Amino acid sequence: MNATSPSRLDRTAAWQALDKHRQELGEVRLRELFAAHPGRGDAYTLQVGDLHLDYSKHLVTDETLRLLRELAEATGVFALRDAMFRGEKINTTEDRAVLHTALRAPRDAVIEVDGADVVPEVHAVLDRMSAFADRVRGGEWTGHTGRPIRNVVNIGIGGSDLGPAMAYEVLRSFTDRALTVRFVSNVDGADLHEAVRDLDPAETLFVIASKTFTTIETITNATSARDWLLTELRAGQEAVAKHFVALSTNAEKVAAFGIDTDNMFEFWEWVGGRYSYDSAIGLALMIAIGPERFREMLDGFHLVDEHFRTAPPEANAPLLLGLLGIWYGNFHDAQSHAVLPYSHYLSRFTAYLQQLDMESNGKSVDRAGEPVDWQTGPVVWGTPGTNGQHAYYQLIHQGTKLIPADFIGFANPVHDLQPGLIAQHDLLMANFFAQTQALAFGKTPEEVRAEGTPEELVPHKTFRGNHPTTTILAGKLTPSVLGQLVALYEHKVFVQGAIWNIDSFDQWGVELGKVLAKRIEPALTEGAEVPGLDPSTRALVAKYRQYRGR
Ligand code: F6P
Repeated sequence: MNATSPSRLDRTAAWQALDKHRQELGEVRLRELFAAHPGRGDAYTLQVGDLHLDYSKHLVTDETLRLLRELAEATGVFALRDAMFRGEKINTTEDRAVLHTALRAPRDAVIEVDGADVVPEVHAVLDRMSAFADRVRGGEWTGHTGRPIRNVVNIGIGGSDLGPAMAYEVLRSFTDRALTVRFVSNVDGADLHEAVRDLDPAETLFVIASKTFTTIETITNATSARDWLLTELRAGQEAVAKHFVALSTNAEKVAAFGIDTDNMFEFWEWVGGRYSYDSAIGLALMIAIGPERFREMLDGFHLVDEHFRTAPPEANAPLLLGLLGIWYGNFHDAQSHAVLPYSHYLSRFTAYLQQLDMESNGKSVDRAGEPVDWQTGPVVWGTPGTNGQHAYYQLIHQGTKLIPADFIGFANPVHDLQPGLIAQHDLLMANFFAQTQALAFGKTPEEVRAEGTPEELVPHKTFRGNHPTTTILAGKLTPSVLGQLVALYEHKVFVQGAIWNIDSFDQWGVELGKVLAKRIEPALTEGAEVPGLDPSTRALVAKYRQYRGR
């Protein structure tokens, strides 16, 4: 499927051409690129749905972009993309199709896995979710004592938490404010304790979200939640049916936990955990925002799916973002990538992207299991922009590291305040535009001197500039725009994994820690001898037990 021979990506002609081009370009100056091509700020842009993408402030020329597209062609990105959309089993280490795109396909689409069309099942579950969400929102779904549900607590972790929790925050202004919706993920009991301490159990619904229904953190929290509910309600097991629903692929385990499988909303093994919040995993979100807005969000996803599938390479936004990441990670040694939203509602967006990107592309062997000789996924980080400006932007502006960054902003506020002459949103967005300008063009020593700065301070006040950024600007934050943004990043991650020839859809790297935790647990609780425990960990366990008074 992939045109490169395993592990030899860096020996392809396309890669070597980029290497040579990088050396010939030397240090590209954004000031010079703009001076040579003043129309660059209009030319280096793309429109996808509601998203305007400006990539003019990147250290690239037309030739760079051409060579990067050739790399995509040579590494079989388009063939792999088409195979994904067709439902082929491109997750080879787990022998699974990768079909999150089917979750947002229209009702009349036909997408087959092993010869069976999955679209009717997808819509059947969406319909059941919608009916359930409407019943909860309308107060028709009542708890064990007959009271309507006013609180929804989603218990899940990783993809069964980050997606719905992020989207709930993003779309908070579209939620039913009469409902309290919380997300519990950490096996630290503090998380569940704080989430339920002020809730009335008679009005609380727990949504247990776990693809496998074996994840220890989730099952432990779900068990504690059940204990809390039954104790507080002074009720028996029969109360569970009214207060617990499950989102899972594993009906057997759901039943074993005691949840009626009539109250289970299913999804399928071809939906990866970190690609799942537009499946049944989004139920808490759907209850919060309502089925109609959830559908709008899915339509936004679908719009970008279609764009990725059909747009020509030179106008394909996920392809472009993926290629720019390759340019910095593989040809400029950038180690990280910052995502900096200028919207408070997107405060958890980067945390969500961390799993999407780092669990997908944090790999060091290729599809055939051979070690790769090139850098793969970057460290993804960031928080809402203006807060970052007063924390870590100093390092981006004047530190020694190259940190490509995405700036995401919206022209129209969800809520605007105007305490004085300037609307708060204009102030926010003035910062948004100022930062990418400062990062790109900096401030030369001459400009600093011209301000009358004493000579000894000139180096300190000089900004080298040339820090690359992408600006993503949309008119307004809506459910559809959120879907568009997430799909844009999903497909960007796909493009990079395809080029690096790694399996972006498995996550074996999280397994070892899980196995060791199970093994260490009896040492903590019972002081059991754990065979093969290394001396450092053994000493730490002894110290822990001493602190615990055991
Ligand atoms: O972190 C590993 C992982 O398997 C993720 O991929 C997944 O999103 C998360 O655990 C939760 O898994 P589950 O939904 O099966 O509980």
